[in-house]
Amino acid sequence: MDQTAANDNNNDQDNNNDQDNNNDQGTKLYLEDPSETVEDSTFDIDNFDFRKLSLSQQTIISVHDVSYVVKTRSLPLCGEIKEKTVLSSITGIFPSGMNAIMGPTGCGKSSLLNVISGQKNPAGLSGILLINGRLPPANFKCQVGYVEQDDVIMPTLSVKENLWFSAALRLPATFSSATREQRVNALIEELGLTDVADSKVGSELIRGISGGERKRTCIGLELITSPQILFLDEPTTGLDSSTAYSVMHLLKKLSEKGKNIIFSIHQPRYSIYNLFDNITLLYNGILAFQGPRKEALSYFESIGYICEEHNNPTDFFLDVINEDSIEPTTSNLSVVAQEISKTKKFQHYFRKSTYYKCLSETTAVIEEEFEEYCKTSSLKRHSRVPYKVSFLRQLEIVSVRALKNLWRNPEASSLLIIITILFAVVIGLIYFQLDDSRMGLQNRNGVIFFIIVNQMFSSLSALDLFLKERVLFM
Ligand SMILES: Nc1ncnc2c1ncn2[C@@H]1O[C@H](COP(=O)(O)OP(=O)(O)O)[C@@H](O)[C@H]1O
Ligand SMILES: [Mg+2]
Repeated sequence: MDQTAANDNNNDQDNNNDQDNNNDQGTKLYLEDPSETVEDSTFDIDNFDFRKLSLSQQTIISVHDVSYVVKTRSLPLCGEIKEKTVLSSITGIFPSGMNAIMGPTGCGKSSLLNVISGQKNPAGLSGILLINGRLPPANFKCQVGYVEQDDVIMPTLSVKENLWFSAALRLPATFSSATREQRVNALIEELGLTDVADSKVGSELIRGISGGERKRTCIGLELITSPQILFLDEPTTGLDSSTAYSVMHLLKKLSEKGKNIIFSIHQPRYSIYNLFDNITLLYNGILAFQGPRKEALSYFESIGYICEEHNNPTDFFLDVINEDSIEPTTSNLSVVAQEISKTKKFQHYFRKSTYYKCLSETTAVIEEEFEEYCKTSSLKRHSRVPYKVSFLRQLEIVSVRALKNLWRNPEASSLLIIITILFAVVIGLIYFQLDDSRMGLQNRNGVIFFIIVNQMFSSLSALDLFLKERVLFM
């Protein structure tokens, strides 16, 4: 409980900071009565009481019977349409703390993360997503942070410039540049990036910062608005184990300030596993387990799977659900589930368990409260999501950034200039000294046609940039 008290203090400090920094609307979602105290910041299955939590300063994300079906074609534009169930009837809770979504590749981790963060196209999506028992606001995507699996960051800019770019676009226009600068500096310190703040991020071609520092910078881009909820898709993939630990430790520190950190992760090492508060285990789009990390091993023991003493629990979970190397010991449930398909078996086990009973009771309370709320108040829908800064300011910031990128990447831009000069010279030589005859007029038309076609095709290369950077602005 001492730890919780510390968390509360941090929460208070966070709130005060936010108030200091004017009205940072991006931090808290649907707080109901902040005067109530937080009992426990982690999902304790024995003492879990939604009423206590909903009235606290926590943010609880709940998904209710969420399914996601995609339609695919065997051949592009034609061919038979096939339906694939990516997520099947997922009901779960993601409270403040470290929420890990685990499972084998292709089990639906990223899809679940996208559904919870409101990134998925509603086509094919069913079920309800609630934030503290209320529908997410229209600008939910802007209020949360989402760190992509692949780092989306400008390689020619320094760590500080990248963070400044995020601050300029995402913080309200009312913030002075001194406040922005302060925020960026504080974040650099919090992320442990002080030594590399002025170093270029770098890419395959430009020597830059290390993989861990790069990932921290990407996390920083999202943390600039101090969102209450942070989503990360496989934040440790591609990092060595100690760098992965330092990134996860940073997230743990953030979660201790009361933030909801929800991330998908693939086979973390044991020390990283120990940082988790809650685990969501998926298998073929089906929920195989959700509950506190400390209870996960005893749950698997209860269904007949015992983890060896020195085995990494995360490897053990994957082995169990893949049924590769671990055989269940005798269990009543195993006998019951013998006729059920392998995929449905773990859903069956979980739904029979006391863990699921507690989870479904809690989600039922949330649903009841939500239904009650819907009856008593008219649901307001915001059709337009306001941006924090005006269009002209956005254009200015993005243009300055693009110019800096051009200036610092002279090879690409000088090549473009040389090609344009060569093209101009060739066209000029071909159509040199045109006269005023009918032939001269036709030739002029030809020149104009050539120039327009050249401009069209040369600007097509900009499409690649849009595709790459699209995620940064979404
Ligand atoms: N839009 C989509 N169209 C077709 N298949 C999809 C789509 N989204 C997800 N899938 C499929 O759903 C499964 C789960 O994907 P994903 O959530 O990315 O898995 P994970 O992140 O666990 O590796 C994969 O088999 C993937 O091919
Ligand atoms: Mg994925």
